[in-house]
Amino acid sequence: MEMGMGIPEFFRGRSVFITGGSGFMGKVLVEKLLRSCPDLDNIYVLMRPKRGQQVAGRYSDLLDCKIFEWLKENRKHQLNKIVAVAGDITKPGLGLSPEDQEMLVREVSVVFHAAATVKFDEVIRLSVALNLLGTKSLLQLCEKMDKLVSVVHVSTAYCNCNLNDDIYEKLYPAPADPEQVIQMVQLLDDHVLDCITPLLLKDRPNTYTFTKALAEHVVYEKSGRLPIAIFRPSIVTSAIEEPLPGWVDNLNGPTGVLAGVGKGVLRSVMCHRDAIADFIPVDRAINCMIAIAWATAVTRPNNIVIYNCTTGASSPLYWRDMEQFGLEFILKYPSREILWYPGGSFKSSPTLNDLHTLAVQTLPAYLHDGLSRLTGRKPIMVRIQEKLQKALETTQFFTTKDFKFRNDNVVELYKTLSPEDQKTFCFDLSNIDWRKYIETYVLGTRKFILKEDPATIPESRVNLKKMYVLHRGTQLLMFIFIFWGFLMRSSTARFTFYQMLSAVSKMMTALSKTFASVER
Ligand SMILES: NC(=O)c1ccc[n+]([C@@H]2O[C@H](COP(=O)([O-])OP(=O)(O)OC[C@H]3O[C@@H](n4cnc5c(N)ncnc54)[C@H](OP(=O)(O)O)[C@@H]3O)[C@@H](O)[C@H]2O)c1
Repeated sequence: MEMGMGIPEFFRGRSVFITGGSGFMGKVLVEKLLRSCPDLDNIYVLMRPKRGQQVAGRYSDLLDCKIFEWLKENRKHQLNKIVAVAGDITKPGLGLSPEDQEMLVREVSVVFHAAATVKFDEVIRLSVALNLLGTKSLLQLCEKMDKLVSVVHVSTAYCNCNLNDDIYEKLYPAPADPEQVIQMVQLLDDHVLDCITPLLLKDRPNTYTFTKALAEHVVYEKSGRLPIAIFRPSIVTSAIEEPLPGWVDNLNGPTGVLAGVGKGVLRSVMCHRDAIADFIPVDRAINCMIAIAWATAVTRPNNIVIYNCTTGASSPLYWRDMEQFGLEFILKYPSREILWYPGGSFKSSPTLNDLHTLAVQTLPAYLHDGLSRLTGRKPIMVRIQEKLQKALETTQFFTTKDFKFRNDNVVELYKTLSPEDQKTFCFDLSNIDWRKYIETYVLGTRKFILKEDPATIPESRVNLKKMYVLHRGTQLLMFIFIFWGFLMRSSTARFTFYQMLSAVSKMMTALSKTFASVER
C-alpha cells in the first residue's frame, strides 16, 4: 500500500466491520464512511436484539435516523451497503452465527471496535463482560481475518484519569492484571464483587475507566500480531458540521447539563471553572478515527500507536467558557416548555453546591410535587431531581480535575493527510471557535434531544420573558419574607417595608400590562 494513497481510495473495494455502529459515535462513523468513501464495499454492523426488538427492526430504526437523510436523498444506493450482523460482544465468538463469522473472516479488511458500556458506574461484572471480554473476543475474530489491514480500538482519554501529570499517548501500567480480573468476575458472586469493587478500582473513579484501561492492555498484547491502533477521544460532544450541525443523540455529560439548565431544572453544578473542559465534537473524532484506520494500514508501524483525540492542548475550552456561552445561548434560544427561568452557576465548593442545590432545586421540586398532588397531577419533579443528582455525581470527578492530555500523534497524523483529505476528513483541533460551537451545540440539543422545532424559538422567547418576571418576582417575595422575619420589629423597618410593597405592586401591574400588549 502506498503512503500517497488518499483515504477514499484506501477504502475502495474494502469491507469494514463496526462494533457499536448503532451508538452515538458509531452512527456518525457509518454515515461518514458512506458519504465520503463512496467506493467502499460493505459495512458490516454488529447488532444485538434489544428491549424485545430483533436485529431486523433495529436495522430499519438505524436507517430512520435523521443523520441518514442526506444519503437517502442524494446517494440512496449507498445505504444498501450497511449489512446488519446479529451478535453480542458479551457472548463467546461475539455471538455470531458460523455463516456470519465465515463471511466476516473472508470479507473484512478494516475493523472499528466501538461497542462498550459507557455507563460510568456499571456493575463490574457487566463492565468487564462488555469492555474487556468483548474486546478479547473481537481480537480473536480479527486474528482470523484473511484480508485484515487495520483495526481501530476505541478507548477513552480518561482511562488514565488517575494521573495528575500530563497524559501522553502511551500505554500506562495496568490498574490490575486483566486475566485475574476476568477470573475474579467469573468466580465471585455479585455481593462479593460489589464489596471488593472499590478496592479493585483504587484511584480510578468508576468501573468504566477501570475496564477501559484494562482493555488497552488486552489490545497491547496483540502488538506485532495485529495491525491495530488505540484511539482515545475525550468528551465526545455534538457535531460541529456533519452529518448535521449540532447533532447529538443522548443526554450524557454536557448535553444533559445544557438540557437541564435549558429547562430550568438544573441551577447548580459542581465544577472547577478554571479547569479544561476537553470536548471533542463527534465529527472531528470520527474523521480522526477514519484517518487512523488509513494510517495504520499504509504506514504499518511496528508498535501499536495510541492517539489522544483531545482538544485541551491545541484549542482549550474551559468550564467557565462552557458556563458563560451555554447560558448565553440557552437564553437566546430558549426551550419551549421551561419549568423555571434558566440560570444558576458552576460551584467549586461542595458545601456551596449542596446548599444551593437544596435551596433552588430540591426544595422547589418538593413544593412543585406537593402542588401537583393537590391539583391531581403526576408528581415528577423530585424524581427528576434525584436522577439529575445521580448523573451529576458520576461526572463530578471529571469536572473538578484538570486533565492535560498530550495529542502530538493526532496533530502529526493530521499533517500527513493530503489537502483534499484534510478538507473531507477535517480533524484540525487548533482552531475551534468554541463560542460558535456552543451556540451550535445548544441549538442541536434543543432540536435533536428536546425535539423542539427551531420555528418555535420566537414564541419560546415570549414565554421566557414571562418566566423572567415570575423568577424576579419570586426572588423579591423571598427577600420581603426574610426582611419581614428579621426587621418587622422596628417601626422604621415596617414603614420601609410598606413603601417597597407598594412600589413592587405598581411595577408588577406595569409589567403585566406591557406583556399583554406584546402578546397582542
Ligand atoms: N461518547 C463519549 O463521550 C466517549 C468518550 C470517549 C470514549 N468513548 C468510547 O467510544 C465508544 C462509543 O461510545 P458512544 O458514545 O457511541 O456509546 P453508545 O452510544 O452508548 O454506543 C455504544 C455501542 O455499543 C453497543 N453495545 C453495547 N453493548 C453491546 C453488546 N453486548 N453487544 C454488541 N454491541 C453492544 C451499543 O449497541 P446497542 O445499540 O445495542 O446498545 C452501541 O452501539 C465506546 O467505546 C466508548 O467507550 C466515548
